[in-house]
Amino acid sequence: MTLRSRIIGIGSFLPAHISTNDDMAKIVDTSDEWIVERTGIRVRHFADENMSSSVMAVKAAEQALNSAGLTGDDLDLIVLGTVTPDKTFPATAAYVQAGLGMKHGCAFDVVAACSGFLYALKTADNMLRLGQAKTALVVGVETLSKITDFKDRNTCVLFGDGAGCVILKAEEAAGTSADRGVLDTLIYSDGSYAPELCSTGGPSTNHDVGYITMNGREVFRHAAVNMAEVSAEILQKNGVSLDEVDWLVPHQANIRILEATAKRLGIPMEKVISTVDLHANTSAASIPLALAEGVKNGKIKEGQLLLLPGMGAGFTWGASLIRL
Ligand code: COA
Repeated sequence: MTLRSRIIGIGSFLPAHISTNDDMAKIVDTSDEWIVERTGIRVRHFADENMSSSVMAVKAAEQALNSAGLTGDDLDLIVLGTVTPDKTFPATAAYVQAGLGMKHGCAFDVVAACSGFLYALKTADNMLRLGQAKTALVVGVETLSKITDFKDRNTCVLFGDGAGCVILKAEEAAGTSADRGVLDTLIYSDGSYAPELCSTGGPSTNHDVGYITMNGREVFRHAAVNMAEVSAEILQKNGVSLDEVDWLVPHQANIRILEATAKRLGIPMEKVISTVDLHANTSAASIPLALAEGVKNGKIKEGQLLLLPGMGAGFTWGASLIRL
């Protein structure tokens, strides 16, 4: 017997304001045709001035708690992935803890950009497996619109805002791949690629929040390779064949990256959850948002095996294998 982190609740939140590709074409020299053809993105959601990351995270968390029949006070751990915190400090997770009325346990952030949810999931899963917590909220949330340079057509059409989360509960299980819960998560990084995708600012460099800057082609080149390789590795490590995977729920950056990852891995696109057309790239929020969407539209069902690969700034990358 072993301890497993089972997903007992899923939540998501998208701000009401939707910006279409035609809206973006009014701001920069671009077109709906170019954006759809090169990225698959059709719309993205933008938070308004007063909506911070913690506000969106609390809304997603309330939905997840509700679906699990719990309140904030039932949680003893919050791990939150974001690169768009409410403030430089304290952690955005602290505001979420307060917003949920949770007075005990601990709450902290992890920074791994588009791999943020996977890093947060691995951290929470490890703590639950070690008996250091019993019920965890794992959140990916971003207000990327607040660090987007809306004069730069190379980046501004690609990103959106949103929050997604899961509630994990530690439960005894047999310790096989038939168990429900997080079966395994692998995470990696290579900091030598940091300049390829980063913010132009930061408190200890120039006292500024900065804007997203990116070498799109270099990121693209690594994304599909890294996501496919780590996916293959986690399957092999856990003695699971690709055929057993019901759904690939990847980080949603660009439909062409999703297609290239699926092709390299050898999984048909019919088994890939894609929300990039509706959400654009929401960094740490994209995987849990895609998971929530897949469950909501009835594709992803209880007991199914899910493979969640991601890749982001750092570079960071990883994959999680989960039986829902
Ligand atoms: N509208 C119109 N033209 C645009 C444009 C836009 N929004 N953005 C860039 N272009 C132009 C470029 O200026 C370039 O013009 P040039 O050849 O005259 O210099 C041309 O389109 C082609 O650019 P290129 O970089 O070859 O396009 P691409 O097919 O590689 O697609 C990305 C660009 C950014 C969509 C793609 O590289 C990508 O998705 N990268 C990964 C980005 C990502 O998701 N990062 C987040 C972390 S995972």
